[in-house]
Amino acid sequence: MEELNKQNKETNDINTGEVVEEIVQHLNNPVSGPKPIVKKYLSTVTQIHAEGNKFYFSDGDARVEVRVVSDEIIRIRLAPHGVFLDDFSYAVPVVDQKVTTFKMEEQELQYLISTNTITCKISKNDFHISFIENQSQMVMSEDESPMHWEENIEFGGYYVYATKKCLSEENFYGLGDKSGNMNLRGRHFQNWNTDAYSFGWDQDPLYRTIPFYSGVHHGAAYGIFFDNTFRSYFDFGKEDNSKTSFWADGGELQYYYIHGPHLMDVVKRYQSLTGTHPMPPKWALGYHQCRWSYYPEKKVKEIADGFRSRNIPCDAIYLDIDYMDGYRCFTWNKSHFPDPKRMIKELANQGIKTVVMIDPGIKVDDNYWVFKEGKENNYFCRRSDDYFMEGHVWPGRCQFPDFTNPAVREWWGKLYKELVDIGVAGVWNDMNEPAVFGSGTFPNDVRHNYDGYRGSHRKAHNIYGMQMVRSTYDGLKKLMRNKRPFTITRAGYSGMQRYGCVWTGDNVATWEHLKIGNIQCQRMSISGVPFCGTDIGGFSGEPDGELFTRWIQLGTFSPFMRAHSAGDTAEREPWSFGEPYTSINRTYIELRYRLMPYLYSVFWEHHRYGFPILRPLVMLEQENAGNAYRQDEFTFGDKILVCPVLEQGAVSRMVYLPKGKWFNFWTHEVLTGESEHNIQAPLDHMPLFVRAGSVIPEYPVMQYVGEKNIDEVLLNVYYSEYEVNSFLYEDHGDTFAYEQDIYSEKKFSVKGTSYQLTIEQSVEGLYTPNYEWYNYKVIGLPFNVNKITVDDRDVTDYQLENNCLRFRSNKNFTSIKIYN
Ligand code: GLC
Repeated sequence: MEELNKQNKETNDINTGEVVEEIVQHLNNPVSGPKPIVKKYLSTVTQIHAEGNKFYFSDGDARVEVRVVSDEIIRIRLAPHGVFLDDFSYAVPVVDQKVTTFKMEEQELQYLISTNTITCKISKNDFHISFIENQSQMVMSEDESPMHWEENIEFGGYYVYATKKCLSEENFYGLGDKSGNMNLRGRHFQNWNTDAYSFGWDQDPLYRTIPFYSGVHHGAAYGIFFDNTFRSYFDFGKEDNSKTSFWADGGELQYYYIHGPHLMDVVKRYQSLTGTHPMPPKWALGYHQCRWSYYPEKKVKEIADGFRSRNIPCDAIYLDIDYMDGYRCFTWNKSHFPDPKRMIKELANQGIKTVVMIDPGIKVDDNYWVFKEGKENNYFCRRSDDYFMEGHVWPGRCQFPDFTNPAVREWWGKLYKELVDIGVAGVWNDMNEPAVFGSGTFPNDVRHNYDGYRGSHRKAHNIYGMQMVRSTYDGLKKLMRNKRPFTITRAGYSGMQRYGCVWTGDNVATWEHLKIGNIQCQRMSISGVPFCGTDIGGFSGEPDGELFTRWIQLGTFSPFMRAHSAGDTAEREPWSFGEPYTSINRTYIELRYRLMPYLYSVFWEHHRYGFPILRPLVMLEQENAGNAYRQDEFTFGDKILVCPVLEQGAVSRMVYLPKGKWFNFWTHEVLTGESEHNIQAPLDHMPLFVRAGSVIPEYPVMQYVGEKNIDEVLLNVYYSEYEVNSFLYEDHGDTFAYEQDIYSEKKFSVKGTSYQLTIEQSVEGLYTPNYEWYNYKVIGLPFNVNKITVDDRDVTDYQLENNCLRFRSNKNFTSIKIYN
């Protein structure tokens, strides 16, 4: 340390550091005409200073903090005039320090800060920062120009900029809520949460802000998380093919460099910063039916009966805004719903949960208790000169709670009491960009508490929705006495996954939107927001039977599966289009329930280990350059490859299979990967493939989660000559007991030869499922079976059924051997 201080003093004595200034024309000041703006750049490093895992570099004026977070994560912050802002983030509540060994070294031209995996290089001369992988010495990301800023005269603070080199072979992924192609290369984006009704291909910005992207070049990946809630911008080689830039209208230039080298690692590490989704109640993974709006009560019951009488599984029905009295949140329209408690109970008796919408706009009405409480406690947002922020939304003139105030969140969370008491199972937060009719959103001068760190709407806009759903989630969690809440939000910011699932907003019933939604959910998944789905069928416009059925098929493999439609469209339930559509829709919704133990296990892998749920091909094989453009297939977890049919009238489609062997889910045909195949895909057939060596657990079809006691679990075992591990996760399904290890995580490993197949099981956790038996379906054995042993005891009762080996065993086995 003493040595460092000495160095600081020396460097300080040598250079005073001059700020490089660049004059650019100010084009958007019509009052005073164009005036010069001064862009200032970091210049030469003149001082350094170390404090534990934080290293401070200065050019005599501005300061940069380099903080080692883990072996693979380094955070950079810039303080243009030397004073850092308070270190507070809604996305990363605690920067979890995970590193023990790192070192700083001064060389003639640079400083090097190294962990076991990466090195951050700061060039003395030009203050360029780069990140290098230690083993390969590959430069993963490198400044093209030093970090820079412009003073903001009107609001104070700075517009902050970072510009990195963009390599010719580099591609980019992530940024959460964007429509259009998966690869972000050559495009420019903006983050400003926006109510984007009927958005289109490439329309930007949309509803959510996830300022996190991954870059892939030379087969290796890294990520940048620009944790800044102001309006932010990203340019991936659009303005200049050799530059990638990100900047914001205010706040701190603060970003995390997150190393891979696999895209999967980048995403997992991003989740280690911003958190994973808590385990949802299991029913939330069932099929959900929504419409704007189902009312009165008779209609809701007709829909519930419609599912049950047709044997189409369904777990939840949603009540959109019309259940309320004049769109006042937390009230009921008593002429449409005279006794909501009874109705909700009757639906529950049919196995159907009720989810209700709650918006942020509170009607200005002194006879309305929510408004009165908010007003009395000063919970509503105000403008800079202290007037209330008022705007029109569904109820008419409204005021809006400041969800960035912890006291407001606490209050709002408690408002759900009556809804919870009468049995409401989930809450849907909408319009929380926040959306305002006419003006779009709040004016910039609206003030926010920002958890005591104060700010204008410029700073709070992008996290308003996330703080709303946070308050909903936390409130429900308390009110439901630690049962898992189910919440759904439209707007959000990085870290929103800790509080709720998300739907992609007001899409359209077109084939193009089926494609947009397919990419959007994959993109959300690799941007740290795994529990995502589209309005199946399209919100506005009219799908025909074919489009709706293809959407149901894709939706079967959306983490969140909900059909929704606008009020001015024709009825839109899975049976609305007659045959053959109804039957096909039923088959796929049933498939969702059959695969429930698999889907739930994949969710657990996300929750516990940070794996994304949907994985695009580029994540499976990032070294394969072609995958940068193959965006219409993905795996759900790592075992099932989903190839949705996205073209009208298609009866086949080309499918790319990644490395390894894959079984056609429907025919059991084995195909070899790293190649393309033309696969039959008539309307009742969405191509699905299972990775060789997988164990896919299956429950019997149920009309809703928990309808039947499980007597035995079907294990579909797919032969492989390489060892493959699979997981089966089970727990109570609706409590937080899993946090006390009351869960069961089983690992199956499958490995075959030309004359033998071995299945091994190990079990972790304290939960014991009720069933005693596994029922096996072994697919693709390359030999005739002469003997089966379970833990060395012979099994005599086995059969061949459609070329699959069928037998049973007790669930507590350790090792099964199937012999030729
Ligand atoms: C918004 C939502 C939509 C909802 C409607 C009425 O447009 O995005 O899902 O049905 O408002 O509440």
